[in-house]
Parts: sequence; structure tokens; C-alpha cells
Amino acid sequence: MKTRINGIIIAYSDRGTGLPIVFLHAFPLNRTMWAQQEEALSLRFRIITVDLRGHGESDAPLWHYTLEQSAEDVNALLEQLSIQQAIFVGLSMGGYILFAFYRKYAARVKGLVLAGTRAQADTAEGKDGRFQMAQTAYKKGPTAIADIMIPKLLSPATIQTRTALVQQVRAMIENNQISGIAGDLMAMAERPNSIPLLSQITCPTQIIVGELDQATPPSDAKLMADQIPNARLAIIPGAAHLTNLEQPEAFNQIILAFAAELAKGNQPSGAGTF
Ligand code: MLT
Repeated sequence: MKTRINGIIIAYSDRGTGLPIVFLHAFPLNRTMWAQQEEALSLRFRIITVDLRGHGESDAPLWHYTLEQSAEDVNALLEQLSIQQAIFVGLSMGGYILFAFYRKYAARVKGLVLAGTRAQADTAEGKDGRFQMAQTAYKKGPTAIADIMIPKLLSPATIQTRTALVQQVRAMIENNQISGIAGDLMAMAERPNSIPLLSQITCPTQIIVGELDQATPPSDAKLMADQIPNARLAIIPGAAHLTNLEQPEAFNQIILAFAAELAKGNQPSGAGTF
């Protein structure tokens, strides 16, 4: 489905009924990365997946991008869909956007799932890497970005043995427009440090990380779990950065358990590690 939000076209999917769960994808992918979550979880919940501005079937204007703007797009979409409160799942860049979203719209957040993400801002070196990647996107196009990103997103074993999954990720990356890739890179480089926010996140929070994730390693996930008052941590074995694609069953089970408890009105039981 497509709708006009903040002056551009935003594409999204809306499937199932019940407590809404909103999924925000990683850089530089799109909402189809959530296909297996949509399939399994829409049997019990209302699943909303969004192509963030710059991605998939949404417009990719050649202009200034910020994560706060993406959070505003998500909020406007929820207003159009008459959704007051939801569980939000963000993977990596999707998680960075959730920090921006929580700063502005905490009342909308019934529960947070922060997967493969981190609260720290970029280091000077990290910002420089973003700049270099934007130049590469401009000069060589999205295929060069896929070549750089795939080893950061998937484990070596996945890359060696799961050709269809690697192709799926490559196709998502190659489908992006350069304006969207460069816009995201600038937005991520400019994002603030969210560590001071962590102690103020009062909703139930599930943190997920792949044990082999090098982009946002388990130490980043543990830091969030330690500082968010009502958080629990799940480490998924055999997965790197894209846990939901590499280990969809484990990922879905974690979301299902978390959402089922929130739907019953319970606080997911106790902080801790699976
Ligand atoms: C992502 O998966 O969204 C990116 O790896 C995030 C990042 O580059 O920091």
C-alpha cells in the first residue's frame, strides 16, 4: 500500500488484526526483509512494515535526511492508520530511528524491540566511513554498496551456504536509489548519542543480537540491556547482524513471547538473558 506522508510517497504493508507491531528495517534494505515475520506473526497480531523514506517502494527524494524525519514519517503513518499505541521492532538503523521516535512519541510505545542496534553515536572514524560509502554509492552505484555491506550483514557461513538468502539481501540493496543510500548515511552519521536516553525508557524492552554480529556486537546489546530499566536480552546463536533473516524461527519466537505477554496486559517477566 502507498500513502502520501510529509510530502512524499511512503509504501507500507498492513496485515492481520490485534495488537499492532510496527517493523522498521535496516540500512540499506526495505520492508521485504520482514516477510517471514509478517507471515508468522500476522496470524495473531496486526503487522505493519514500512519502507522508510529512501527505500523500497517509498520515494527517495534528493534532499537532507534525518532519523528524526523518518520517526515523524512513522508517526504520521500511525495517525493515518488510527493506531494509538504499538509494539515497535527496529533492526539496526530501524533501532536508531526508534530512539528518535521514543524521544518524541514515547506515549505511542507499548513495547520496544531493539535488534542488532546500538545506542552510541558514530565515532569520528565511523562518520568518515559513512562519507566514504556515500562517495562510493555516488561513483559506483548500489552494487558496490551491496559488495561492501553483505559481509557486514550476514555470517560467513550464511554467505557460503545460503545462496538464495544472499541473493535476496543483494537484490534489496541494489534496488535502492543512490539518493536514499547517501541520505541514510548522512542521517546515521549525524545521529545523537542515545546512551543518556536509555535510563529513561520505561516501557518493556526486548533486546536481540546475533552472537556473531560484528556491526553491532553483543557488547553493545548488553550495554542497552544494563541501562534500560525494564529490558531483557536474547542472544541468537549462529546469526550475525540480520538475525531475523538468518534465524527467523528463533527471532519470531522471541517477538511472539514478548508481544503475547504485552497483549495480555502483563509485563514480560523480569529482566535477564535467554
Ligand atoms: C544497518 O544494518 O542498519 C546498518 O548496519 C547500521 C549502521 O551502519 O550503523
